[in-house]
Amino acid sequence: MKVFQHVSDIGDLKQAIEEALQIKADRYQYQSLGKNKTCMLIFFNNSLRTRLSTQKAAMNLGMNVIVLDVNQGAWKLETERGVIMDGDKSEHLLEAIPVMGCYCDIIGVRSFARFENREDDYQEKILNQFIKYSGKPVFFMESATVHPLQAFADLITIEEYKRNQRPKVVLTWAPHPKSLPQAVPNSFAQWMNAADVNFVVTHPEGYELDPLFVGDAKVEYDQLKAFEGADFIYAKNWSCPGVTRPEDYGKVLSKDMSWTVDTKHMELTNNAYFMHCLPVRRNMIVTDDVIESPTSIVIPEAANREISAQVVLKRMLESL
Ligand code: CP
Repeated sequence: MKVFQHVSDIGDLKQAIEEALQIKADRYQYQSLGKNKTCMLIFFNNSLRTRLSTQKAAMNLGMNVIVLDVNQGAWKLETERGVIMDGDKSEHLLEAIPVMGCYCDIIGVRSFARFENREDDYQEKILNQFIKYSGKPVFFMESATVHPLQAFADLITIEEYKRNQRPKVVLTWAPHPKSLPQAVPNSFAQWMNAADVNFVVTHPEGYELDPLFVGDAKVEYDQLKAFEGADFIYAKNWSCPGVTRPEDYGKVLSKDMSWTVDTKHMELTNNAYFMHCLPVRRNMIVTDDVIESPTSIVIPEAANREISAQVVLKRMLESL
């Protein structure tokens, strides 16, 4: 595997889940695979889970790990070609990327949507430069449009907890005070569409996800109706994807607190498990009662981030 961005990059999903569960049963069985190999993790944005779980996954495989916080200690980077660099940015990404590639075997990059220009974000300008100029396999640790390590971990978690063969999985928008990217819901939708689940998306009008990711999934604008009979509730905020009105891209169109997932919502479900990628704003996205309930699986979900990362790194090591 040379790039990990979309669900198609992982190949057969059933096989990938089997591999994940096999790794989870003994996560140190491939310790020699990563010997003398270096994984570089580059963060343009903050992280708790991605940073720790990916580092742990690489160490489980016997790899050396280098973590770079671009905004703390590195030169300020220019990302646009053609700019006269007479400002505060000392280095261009076009030199920095191949230099980083010299010091490692595999690169993971986190670079969020900037919300300056929808086209730039959806073209994945930063990550595509890493793919083009690093000379190394690149995996996405949440980009402008996707968060595949999260979606893979979510799918592993659903497989572990499902109580029937084809569970109903509901992705619900929930309110948040700030503009958040669409990367998590985009990837979640893409992976659920590829999995054997009954997938439903619910959000207020204006929050339609890009067709590239939501595909033919059922969209239900009535949140309470969507929750009926659900086996899994996956809550997440996202800002306006700008599908119907490009001028609204990245805007907060609603802070309607009736969309906050509370016990009344959960009572409509089939005793559903509650999921969220974390970090989560309590009593905006979900009430204390729901996230602390016995059916909240946010912690096992986060734990599976180590496993999804390890499958991806293992496959990249095998393809070196
Ligand atoms: N879910 C997730 O990616 O968490 P972090 O932003 O803390 O890495």
